[in-house]
Amino acid sequence: METQSATGEPAEPADDVTLDEIVALCKRRGFIFQSSEIYGGLGSTYDYGHYGVLLKNNVKAEWWRAMLTERDDIVALDSAILQHPRTWEASGHLEGFTDPLVDCRTCKLRFRADKLEDAQCGRKPSKHPGETDDCDLTDPRQFNLMFETHMGPVRDDASTVYLRPETAQGIFVNFKNVLQFSRRKPPFGIAQIGKSFRNEITPGNFIFRTREFEQMEMEFFVPPDEAERWFDYWLEERMRWYVELGIRPDHLRLRRHPPEELSHYSSATSDIEYLFPIGWSELEGIANRGDFDLRQHAKFSGEKLEYFDQQSGEGYVPHVIEPAAGADRAALAFIVDAYDTEEVEGRKRTVLRLHPRLAPVKVAVLPLVSRESMPERAREVYEQLRTRIAAEYDEGGSIGRRYRRQDEIGTPWGVTVDGQTAEDDTVTLRDRDSLAQTRVPIEGLADELAARIDQAWSSPKLD
Ligand code: GAP
Repeated sequence: METQSATGEPAEPADDVTLDEIVALCKRRGFIFQSSEIYGGLGSTYDYGHYGVLLKNNVKAEWWRAMLTERDDIVALDSAILQHPRTWEASGHLEGFTDPLVDCRTCKLRFRADKLEDAQCGRKPSKHPGETDDCDLTDPRQFNLMFETHMGPVRDDASTVYLRPETAQGIFVNFKNVLQFSRRKPPFGIAQIGKSFRNEITPGNFIFRTREFEQMEMEFFVPPDEAERWFDYWLEERMRWYVELGIRPDHLRLRRHPPEELSHYSSATSDIEYLFPIGWSELEGIANRGDFDLRQHAKFSGEKLEYFDQQSGEGYVPHVIEPAAGADRAALAFIVDAYDTEEVEGRKRTVLRLHPRLAPVKVAVLPLVSRESMPERAREVYEQLRTRIAAEYDEGGSIGRRYRRQDEIGTPWGVTVDGQTAEDDTVTLRDRDSLAQTRVPIEGLADELAARIDQAWSSPKLD
């Protein structure tokens, strides 16, 4: 399980963008809004607008592509958010998924007892809690991070259920089902994407740490003596995924957890960290969970959770390698890594240099001006493109303003219908990153763009 700011090193701010600039762009361009804003907002919960939905969907689609389309040893699952409460006894969450917290009777704020030096006291001038005589802290108490709710009309202990704090346990409790229906043999994996909930004491930093978030988790079941090899394999694979989707390699690193930081279930964990504006922080955790989970669920449920090898005539409990990523946190990393500003002809341009596969809109179709039948022709081009690739039509405002809007949502290409289009059925194709403009025929444009989307891509910020 994730621990907060556990790098053990001073936070190193990222070079090129602040979190405030990211939050402002996300709001301005309709990616992400504070949840329940008209009521003053609800702490650390966010709503995704149109472009945010498209971007996060693309992140998840790329993850599915890596897990399912590009290989044949992983199957998909979508388990329920509410699970039998025994699940969380078996997994250790009921007892162990806790943070120590203290309350300050003076400023009425609540802090993580093990992170007081990182916290700000609620009194002015701001100091760390416990630093002055004014601070009146309670003794630390263990606080369970699972959200509780009740099933059915009676609110008693017997009706208590939990919103899952990770998607992983839904996979373990379905191990037997999946094994039977898929007739798989280790090594094989079960993958799922879904919402998880944690009553974090100190959420924050925009969508980096929220109480409701989406996870992309895969449990890879292997013969015990192959666990170490597969752990190394998945470290490499997951790093490759981020780099292939355009994250600058010098903004990514692997950090191995020291023994005292390991979760109760893990014999080895490494984090993929990204250099966020808040410093190096966890993007994804890759853990060797051994046979902990299957053994625990076998013990608590009474079911046999093992693989029976017909050839040797023996059964064994597979070990598990788990790459566990956050869809929201990955989306944030992709936005941060893509954010760029530059001066073009004396004017500042903000641009999201997203990998074309991640960009919410791949192509914008724009009439140069709103007359001379250009809007009608541009609409026709748009209708041709939109069934094959994510396209947008925009005729409002000057062409410069429309380009800037598309730059800020990361649209890699702009197609402009102009005076010459009526003469020779060509359009101008503008490249978001190089700003190069080329004339291309309308015929074959969809094929041309589809081919470009599939090409290998690396961030122009590396140039
Ligand atoms: N099953 C293992 C597990 O849940 P984790 O490190 O606690 O491991 C995996 O979570 C990933 O989920 C993290 O690397 C992060 O990307 C994401 N995540 C965890 N807590 C989060 C939160 N409060 N807000 C947003 N994302 C979170």
